[in-house]
Order: sequence, then C-alpha cells, then structure tokens
Amino acid sequence: MRIDPPEKISVDSMTFDVREIEPLLQAPAMDIKPWPGAMCKLKDGRILYIREAKLEEAPMMMSYMKRVMEAEHDFYDVVGARVLAEIVGWYRKRLKDPYFLVGLIDGLWAGFANGRLLNEDINISLHTMALIRGGRIGAVMYYAKAYYGFEILGNKEWWATYESYNGWMRWGLGMAQPSYPWPEYQHELGGARVYYVTKEYWDSTVKEYVRQMTGTDLEFNVPDEIRKKNEVMRLPEEVLV
Ligand SMILES: CC(C)(COP(=O)(O)OP(=O)(O)OC[C@H]1O[C@@H](n2cnc3c(N)ncnc32)[C@H](O)[C@@H]1OP(=O)(O)O)[C@@H](O)C(=O)NCCC(=O)NCCS
Repeated sequence: MRIDPPEKISVDSMTFDVREIEPLLQAPAMDIKPWPGAMCKLKDGRILYIREAKLEEAPMMMSYMKRVMEAEHDFYDVVGARVLAEIVGWYRKRLKDPYFLVGLIDGLWAGFANGRLLNEDINISLHTMALIRGGRIGAVMYYAKAYYGFEILGNKEWWATYESYNGWMRWGLGMAQPSYPWPEYQHELGGARVYYVTKEYWDSTVKEYVRQMTGTDLEFNVPDEIRKKNEVMRLPEEVLV
C-alpha cells in the first residue's frame, strides 16, 4: 500500500533487518511455570508418563501427525491437521504462550494435549489425542492439561470446544461442562461453542475426574527410572488409531 508523504522528506526509502520485524510478529512470552512431569497408571496397568514436549521433538511430531491426519475416522483428520498446524506454529514461534504435553509409555508416543494462555486467567484448551486407542489415554491427557492450568499456572477459567463425538463424550459430557451463549462467544477453533470450567467448578467436582476414569490420580512423585525410560520419545512404526 502506498500513499504520498504529506511533507518533503530527506530519504525516501528505508530498509529493515528482519530481526526488527520479528519482535512485532512474535508475541513476547509470559513467564510460565513448567509442567513438572507426572505419571498415571492406566486401567490395564501400563504407566503413562506425561511430560512437556521438547522443541527439538517438534519435527518428528510433525512428521507423525502428517500420517495421523490421513486417518479418515473419528475426526482424526481435522484434529490431526489442526494439531500439525499448532506444532508448526510452536516450532516457528507463531503461537502465543502455548504448551505441549506428550504422553509416553516406555518412550512410545501414546497421547498428546496442548493449549495456550489467552492471559493469566484464561487457558484455551486446543487439542487432545489418543495415539493408541482403548486405554483412556486421551482422557488422562486432557485432565493433565486442565490440572496444569488450574493447579500449577493458577488459571481461573478453562475454555474448550469439541470437534468429535469422542471428545464431547469424554469432557463436554464427561465433565458436565457448561457452554457460553453461541454465537456471541466463539472458540478460536472454527468458531464453535465455548465450553468452560471455572476454578470453583474444578475444585468442587472436576478434580475427581481422572480417579473416576482410571481408578488412580496423577502421581507427581515419579521414580527416576520412569523419567529415564521416557526421556527419549519414540514414534509408533504404524499409525495405530
Ligand atoms: C477424543 C480422544 C482423545 C479420547 O481418547 P481416549 O479417552 O483415550 O478414548 P478412545 O477414543 O480411545 O476410546 C473411547 C471409547 O471407545 C472405545 N474405543 C474406541 N475405539 C477403540 C479402539 N480402536 N480400540 C479400543 N477401544 C476403542 C474405548 O474403549 C473407549 O471406551 P471407554 O469409555 O469404555 O473407555 C480420542 O478419541 C481421539 O484422539 N480422537 C481423535 C481426536 C479428537 O477427537 N480429539 C478431541 C477433539 S475434541
């Protein structure tokens, strides 16, 4: 876009270093406490260890997600495509205050959960995926990220939405989440309804969720042996969903 200047100017062209543009495109990061790592015994006895994804793991996660999003069932395609975009956005620093959790079983990538902070009070839940089905891994991953928001980051509200029947069943219905009036309030994922959990509702009711789903709580006292086994993430050879 060009408009003639309203006054005589001494130099009529300026050049910029892209390093000067970058601070305008990259949001300054909030100071966020890290997720400390936790484990959960699944109903079949396997141990799911949930840790933060490492930025250097993003390329392998992207390569696997490209394959997962080709699964044309249970909304793995739309969720996979959006998750791929979110991982790239994180890797290329185009997401405001994101967090990425991976669920691992002996190092094997089994679950995913992410979100981002709108501000200090509101945590926007983005996506949750079970990469191995039938173990309630997705249920635990979602609970872990909500726990992170309410118990570690001190958020006051949780905003979610649902693209799939399984997601709605697990948390919209499973946590009896109310929703804000629609279309006045729209979630950033496609303008769908905003379902929400307040800190009061979390404390009074939702905190029980993972115990009811798996029979145990998240365990933050993780033995070194479990941390070590899950230090290096491995991709499943095949898409298992
Ligand atoms: C939503 C989601 C994360 C839930 O994961 P989950 O809690 O681990 O549960 P699953 O989807 O594996 O299974 C749901 C139920 O169907 C059964 N099921 C479905 N597909 C199954 C399969 N292939 N093998 C075994 N069980 C299966 C499970 O046993 C489970 O029943 P349960 O309630 O008695 O445990 C997962 O379905 C998913 O990743 N879906 C695609 C992405 C998505 O929709 N994300 C949420 C966006 S809103």
